[in-house]
Amino acid sequence: RRPLRVALLGCGAVGSGVLDHLAARPDLFALNPVLVRHPEKRSGDARARFTREAGEALAKRPDIVIEAMGGVDQPASLLLEALAGGAHVVTANKAAMAARYEGLHDAARRAGRQLRYAASVGGGVVILEALERLKPHGVAAVEGVMNGTGNFILSRLRAGAAFDDAVAEAQALGFAEADPSADVDGHDAADKLSLLIREAFGQDVPPAAIPKDSLRKATPERLAGAASQGEVFKQIGRCALLPDGRVEASVQVKSVPLDHPLAGAVNEENRFVLTLNDGSVHALYGKGAGRWPTAASVFADVMDITRACACDASGRAALAASA
Ligand code: NDP
Ligand code: HSE
Repeated sequence: RRPLRVALLGCGAVGSGVLDHLAARPDLFALNPVLVRHPEKRSGDARARFTREAGEALAKRPDIVIEAMGGVDQPASLLLEALAGGAHVVTANKAAMAARYEGLHDAARRAGRQLRYAASVGGGVVILEALERLKPHGVAAVEGVMNGTGNFILSRLRAGAAFDDAVAEAQALGFAEADPSADVDGHDAADKLSLLIREAFGQDVPPAAIPKDSLRKATPERLAGAASQGEVFKQIGRCALLPDGRVEASVQVKSVPLDHPLAGAVNEENRFVLTLNDGSVHALYGKGAGRWPTAASVFADVMDITRACACDASGRAALAASA
């Protein structure tokens, strides 16, 4: 069986990790030139060729297009083009998924192709997969620490760091969004919450409609006050189904007691608590940001598609043989 042709759009913190996984399996994947803004800075990277031309990155009808660029309009239009051209799509981009959810899903349905985005919520935590499995039992609420940078900053502030130094550290470690105010002001958590609401309740609550607190609410005085009462500040996203069928959602920065299920999340960790209608509670913890956990999640989506393509090809071969 021929290797699948793969287009990789973006090769930063996440894309570079994905490229490592792809380059390690030349038996499975043939790589198009990788789309970046500055290919001239990549001369020492032997894993792939690089291009700034989207047309070159999407040439030769790729089987799978992987997007790890960030942004909304440009990645969304490249992913629509990819689906229309017959590619399966994998993305880590929650901003584009939240903003273009219906358009991207419609395009995937029309093309009969897969659209997968496990890494877009929770990084390496399998929260979307867990929701898919638990949803048939009826989800009552989802609550979580869902922005690794925010939790990292709060952890550093608690240890006495200055706010801007903590932000710079999160950027240097590859956790932060290209514009870190998306992390600091709750927009990234709201994008993720909007996707969780789609998956849990099938409702459209756009990120702009979700009230958000800024991490700047966690001033040194408030952090000290919380500590003196045995509490800790967390950025917590929450959505719940109301009795009238509407969904309430918020991203709050608030102090919680140390025995709260989300209180123990440290650094870039994400934690999620799902409550089902029968009252059962399911908790998931893990690395919520960073190159390797996120790349592993993207690559897991790629491998799921690869296995499905292999089954499809052997099924078709079996049909042809029996015809
Ligand atoms: P980076 O900024 O590190 O990387 C972005 C990559 O995309 C770079 O290679 C950049 O090129 C390229 N790129 C961006 N815009 C363009 C453009 N207009 N044309 C061509 N190339 C472009 O981002 P991350 O890897 O951190 O994040 C990527 C996506 O993954 C985002 O949607 C983010 O929200 C999501 N994500 C990130 C996680 C993380 O921990 N970092 C975790 C989960 C999801 P160049 O290198 O030349 O600048
Ligand atoms: N900036 C995001 C975060 C990346 O810190 O959670 C992972 O989605």
